[in-house]
Amino acid sequence: MPKEGLLPLKWDGENLFLLDQRELPDKILYNKKSTPEEVWESIKTLEVRGAPLIGIAAAYAMYFAAKSAPGDGFESFYNYMKNKAEYLSTSRPTAVNLFWALNRIMNRIAKSKDRPIREIKDLVKEEAQKIHREDENICRKIGEYGLQLLKDGYGVLTHCNAGQLATAKYGTATAPIYLAYEKGWKIKVFADETRPVNQGSRLTALELKEAGVDVTLICDNMAACVMSKGWVNAVIVGCDRVAANGDTANKIGTLGLSILAKYFGIPFYVAAPTPTIDLNTESGEEIPIEERDPLEVTQSFGKKTAPDGIKVFNPAFDVTPHENITAFITEKGIIYPPFKENIRKIFE
Ligand code: MRU
Repeated sequence: MPKEGLLPLKWDGENLFLLDQRELPDKILYNKKSTPEEVWESIKTLEVRGAPLIGIAAAYAMYFAAKSAPGDGFESFYNYMKNKAEYLSTSRPTAVNLFWALNRIMNRIAKSKDRPIREIKDLVKEEAQKIHREDENICRKIGEYGLQLLKDGYGVLTHCNAGQLATAKYGTATAPIYLAYEKGWKIKVFADETRPVNQGSRLTALELKEAGVDVTLICDNMAACVMSKGWVNAVIVGCDRVAANGDTANKIGTLGLSILAKYFGIPFYVAAPTPTIDLNTESGEEIPIEERDPLEVTQSFGKKTAPDGIKVFNPAFDVTPHENITAFITEKGIIYPPFKENIRKIFE
């Protein structure tokens, strides 16, 4: 498993330290956060990113909100916290873990309404810490189930960063890879660069390399070539939101990879923690897709790479239809089609 040095988020019981992912791989810089506004800004600007990690950061932001909330009665406390949750939910729209974590904190508050406010504040902290710890266990379990789908000598292609840097620990898509590595298996990973902001080259390549995993970086447009050579036995990606029918939003480019995998007959797996599965969203059509600043596309490597005034389309995510997905790897087991029925079953 990866070294502690690349933990994306550290909590000392009262303070939150976020590894500034915008600075990677150049600098390892942890920034202290102590207000909901600071965490909002971190999520918005991708200082902290990756669906599970966004949820954890938002949960701690709710504790910061609780600390400065009025203590003169449950109703005013509750309303204050609800406003803060609504505010934090505007940081990014696609990863459902953000909304899931905020709801979980609000439910915990609602259930504690007969307790003194100072106790409720502690319960908010407890719940945030629980969400944080649970994510580590979820990722480990995903690793154990995902390992069953790999064999010694496999080539695995992944996209974006669904690694330790996107979670409390181990990652989702990377967890089976780390476990395979621990067993001494020779897994060869291909990491897509993942334009426009290069989470694959800056983050996935970095964390796998640091952990000693055999990783080869490719540009996004090289995936078909690598697959055509027979070097890829499985694709494993993460997800930002899985709809009830299995349609899956993940980093832009995932849809294309799923089509390539189908063409080449390569299994296409989605590592999906259950908090990322949204039963309230029926299909992919309902998933809100974030569009980001055109500058991410018109500049690369700090340099202008497109003419001034060019029209740009910059969606951060796309939706892979469930037909293109071989299976979901969750912490509760592997889900095969038919997804509509089988996804529901794991929540029963
Ligand atoms: O824009 P990002 O970097 O937050 O996008 C991240 C992804 O698309 C990941 O694949 C997803 O959040 C899963 S992380 C375990």
